[in-house]
Amino acid sequence: EKGGYKHFMIKEIYEEPEAIESALVGRIKLEGPFLKEIEEFNLETINKIKVVACGTSYHAALVFKYFLEKHINIDVEVDVASEFRYRNVYIDDNTAVIAISQSGETADTLESVRVVKRKGAKVIAITNVVGSTITRESDATIYMNAGPEIGVAATKTYINQLVVLYLLGMSILKKRNVWSENLEKDLNFLKNSPDIFRKMFETIDLKELISYYKNFNHFMYIGRGINYPTALEGALKLKEISYINATAYPAGELKHGPIALLDPTFPVFAIAPKDSLYEKMKSNIEESKARKARIIAITTEGNKEISSIADDVIFVPESPEDMYPLVIAPIIQIFAYFVADMKGYDPDKPRNLAKSVTVE
Ligand code: M6R
Repeated sequence: EKGGYKHFMIKEIYEEPEAIESALVGRIKLEGPFLKEIEEFNLETINKIKVVACGTSYHAALVFKYFLEKHINIDVEVDVASEFRYRNVYIDDNTAVIAISQSGETADTLESVRVVKRKGAKVIAITNVVGSTITRESDATIYMNAGPEIGVAATKTYINQLVVLYLLGMSILKKRNVWSENLEKDLNFLKNSPDIFRKMFETIDLKELISYYKNFNHFMYIGRGINYPTALEGALKLKEISYINATAYPAGELKHGPIALLDPTFPVFAIAPKDSLYEKMKSNIEESKARKARIIAITTEGNKEISSIADDVIFVPESPEDMYPLVIAPIIQIFAYFVADMKGYDPDKPRNLAKSVTVE
C-alpha cells in the first residue's frame, strides 16, 4: 500500500504533482479562477476575513494573508484555533470566516466554527476529508482533493491547502475586479506547478547534505514576508518527526533576541528566494554567519552570490514572488523526512502525535 516507498510520508510528498492536479480540476476557467463553492458568499463586499486553523493548516492560512493583503485592502486576520475560540472575536456583516482543517475533525477548529456561527458569521471550510464534521458545521466547503493522507506529518495536504487558498484569494480578487499581469502569472504558475514539481523531484538530491545536518540538535529557520510561514512550517516538520529543536522566526526578529542562540552548533535554515525582500534576508544571513552559525539557504536557481555567504545552498526554480511558498514547501518536507529517516525514526508515526487532534 506504500507503493514501493519506505514510508507514507515520502510517498505522499511524491504524490504532490497529482494532488495539485486534482485540486485544480474545474477550478480554472477561461475567464480565470472559479470556485463554485463560494458563489453564494458576498465576497464582493466584505472587508475583513478571519482565518482559523491549527498547526500546518495555520501556516497555510498565514500564506493566504500575505498573498491577499498584498493585492487588496482587506484585513486578513489569522489565528490558531485554540486561541481564537477563547477570544472575544468581533464579527459584523462585512466579515467572512475561513476555517482550515485537513482532517475536518480538529476539536479547537470545530469549536471556533461554532463560536463564530453563534455570532452570525458565515463560515467557509477548507478540508480534505469528505463528509468530515467541519463540512456539516460550515456554510460552504472547499475540498482540497489531495487524496487520503496517512502520514501524521501534513505534506501533500499542505500543498493543496496552499493551492486552494491561492485560488480562493484569486477568486476574491477577480470578483472585485482587482486583476493584474502579476496575478495572471501567478495563475499560470499554479497551472504549471504539477510539472514544475515533477522536474524538481527528478533532480533534487539532498541526501549528502542531510546526512551531515542530521547530527545537529538545534535549527533556526528564518524567512520574511510570504516566506515567514514557510520557515514556521519547516521548523514544525523537522521537530515533529525528527525531534530536533527547530525554531522559526521572521528574519527581522533575530536581533531582538534569538540571535543570542547562534553558534557553530546551531545552524540557520534561511528561506531566501530572489524576491523583493531578498536583500534584507541576505543581511540576516550575514549577521548569522558572523555568529559562526552554519547556513543552509534555499534560493532561486541562478543566484550565484549566495554561495559566498551560505555553507550550503538548495535551489528552487524561478517563480512569481507570491508562489515561492508553494515551490519551497516540498524541499522543507523532504529535508525533514530524510533527517528523521536517517536518524532511525518512523516519520509516519511520530511519538506523542495523532493524525487528527479530536480533543482539546
Ligand atoms: O487536520 P488539521 O488540519 O485540522 O490538523 C491541524 C494540525 O493538527 C496538523 O496540521 C499538524 O500540525 C500536523 N501534524 C502537521 O504536520
